Amino acid sequence: MAEIIDGKATSLAIKDEIAEKVKQIVNDGGKVPHLAAVLVGDDGASQTYVNGKVKACEYVGFKSSLLKFDSDIPEEDLLEVVDKLNNEDDIDGYIVQLPLPKHISPQKVIERIKPEKDVDGFHPVNVGRMVLGLPAYISATPFGILKLLERYKIDTEGKECVIIGRSDIVGTPMSNLLSRKTYPGNCTVTLCHSRTKDIKSLSRNADIVIAALGMPEFLTGDMVKDGAVVIDVGVTRVPDATKKRGYALKGDVKFDEVAEKASYITPVPGGVGPMTIASLLYNTLMASQKAIYS
Ligand code: GUN
Repeated sequence: MAEIIDGKATSLAIKDEIAEKVKQIVNDGGKVPHLAAVLVGDDGASQTYVNGKVKACEYVGFKSSLLKFDSDIPEEDLLEVVDKLNNEDDIDGYIVQLPLPKHISPQKVIERIKPEKDVDGFHPVNVGRMVLGLPAYISATPFGILKLLERYKIDTEGKECVIIGRSDIVGTPMSNLLSRKTYPGNCTVTLCHSRTKDIKSLSRNADIVIAALGMPEFLTGDMVKDGAVVIDVGVTRVPDATKKRGYALKGDVKFDEVAEKASYITPVPGGVGPMTIASLLYNTLMASQKAIYS
């Protein structure tokens, strides 16, 4: 039976470390880190995420600013907001919550963000620097997974790692990070996707499996080997009348079956999810210390 990788507890431990660091900075007369979040429209999930980020800022002692705009804000106006945030010295880092309304190009917005303030790590400069192994902001989910592997002292060197899903924000950066010549890393990575012929034959030989394709309970017990480390990135809302909110959160892993065979496994909820906010706070702390771009 697998040991559960507790993302909630790990995230809390990281937040406490960040809070401690903020106290030290303030005691030494330094600047309180300041994160801003831009929210466009009234998407329920986005509001929940952004509120969580603001609350987390309060917890660690950061300043936070929430900038809300109607869903019909013209693209040009949003780009001006981005320009203002780029030039506002008190703001160390900021995020523009995605998805954006259809008439706004997320790529245009992301490319307008100053890389030094891009604590989401979405700007091509940060992605490129990450690929080259240069100091960079690494986006929240891959960074959270690295931190979990590190804190649970999972051996990664020389291991076969299968990643299922090639999204820009999880699968692709994850494949890069785990093949880097460092810890956690030095894995032999196979990146599977919708055109992969036989995922099962690959995942069954993997020491580490990262499921990030967004298909509830895709990874079943027969797809993993005994002792594998399994990281579940999926969070799909599946209708469930027995739940007060009308849905249940399902991961990409059939938890009970896979937990029987794995050595470590992340649950959903309470695994990778809570780590993303800790990653964002960490990046903001780095931004305030000018630790990535000096
Ligand atoms: N929407 C869902 N996840 C994220 C995230 O990590 N950053 C931003 N900006 N938007 C998101």
